[in-house]
Amino acid sequence: MNEMAGADASTEATGRPSLVLGVAGGIAAYKAAELLRRFTESGHDVTVVPTPSALHFVGEATWAALSGRPVHTQVWESVHEVPHVRIGRSADLVVVAPATADLLARAASGRADDLLTNVLLTARCPVVFAPAMHTEMWEHPATQANVATLRQRGALVIEPAAGRLTGVDTGKGRLPDPDEIFAICMDVLARGVGVCDLAGRTVVVSAGGTREPLDPVRYLGNRSSGRQGIALARAAAARGAEVTLVAANVTLPDPAGVKVVRVETTEELRDAVVSAAGSADAVVMAAAPADFRPVSATETKIKKTGDGTAPTLELTQTPDILAEISSDRLREGQVVVGFAAETGDETGSVLELGRAKLARKGCDLLVVNDVRGGAVFGADDNQAVILDADGTEVDVPAGSKTDLAHAVWDQVARRLGPAPAATEPD
Ligand code: CTP
Repeated sequence: MNEMAGADASTEATGRPSLVLGVAGGIAAYKAAELLRRFTESGHDVTVVPTPSALHFVGEATWAALSGRPVHTQVWESVHEVPHVRIGRSADLVVVAPATADLLARAASGRADDLLTNVLLTARCPVVFAPAMHTEMWEHPATQANVATLRQRGALVIEPAAGRLTGVDTGKGRLPDPDEIFAICMDVLARGVGVCDLAGRTVVVSAGGTREPLDPVRYLGNRSSGRQGIALARAAAARGAEVTLVAANVTLPDPAGVKVVRVETTEELRDAVVSAAGSADAVVMAAAPADFRPVSATETKIKKTGDGTAPTLELTQTPDILAEISSDRLREGQVVVGFAAETGDETGSVLELGRAKLARKGCDLLVVNDVRGGAVFGADDNQAVILDADGTEVDVPAGSKTDLAHAVWDQVARRLGPAPAATEPD
């Protein structure tokens, strides 16, 4: 194998963040090559540390060429540079993708039998594991116990995605999309050590806009893209929460580590949110449910009459999910968060209407967006004030939807107090 680069690869030495990409021996190793490209193309120095068995799936030459760095699997190479200590110590982030059942077991028990497990023992930066394996292996109590141990020690273990596995099998165990693992890693890298402040918490986020059918081809809908809800779900997963995303007509990719429930109408959204809220520490209603729906949808397409008259739509009100969740409080201590897109009118300013809505809905926090002039919908940036039922207000300056998402989780975390996983002894 190649000689180890002599220069220190840390951020201090190069000015660029220094990442370690650990690759364990699973078929999903080929997807890690795509993840590596995302890291290098976005200006990160990446040292790839495959396990010996990972090289059965993707060879050393691929990792070396894509990272522009030498690749080692054992501690016996370039020993004079003490790589088993240096690589872990100088990393700003270690991500293992895919993490196999065996790698998780070795990491949880503190083994140091190859270079990657040595790196995991010496790293003092955030560590992200993206497991991928067959469903039975993931669900095995031994694997689940190892995952719980790693999480208690502060590692972020991303839930695998569900879908097609090797061969004809389908189920939970797929490596999430490399773009989404990349997004989580960037989030963790930006936030640094101690990022898993929602570990042990279960949260529900709704996103998107509902569609209320008129006939088999038409619906009443709205312009919500689901971006803010996706950003909330992704940010919560990056902070270690178990996340259910109830997505109404969202066409964006599923965030890594998030359970996605797809719905179309406000009624379906209500049922999915209420069912998930029973075990949730926090519910964030970022979706835009239609307030009204046609009294009935016709089974056949509504045709023009030919005499120039248009049909009259009879509408009925849909359930107010936020108000229902807030008054029912399905779990003690649950934090309920609403969003309000306001323009202000003759009855009040944007904030006055926001305060009135917070009281009317009975939620704990209300994120108020000023949407005068069509701002927010479909945009990448967002600006808001977070109103708390205790009277406090937090101004969130213009920034990305991810920034706003973290500001919301900061307030949720403050209300929830220390996370259970963080208070358990190792
Ligand atoms: N919401 C809900 N169920 C509905 C409508 C809205 O849970 N049927 C939630 C939204 O997800 C959001 C909050 O309520 O978190 C505020 O939405 P908004 O449309 O501003 O509230 P409305 O009650 O519809 O108020 P308005 O009369 O101002 O439209």
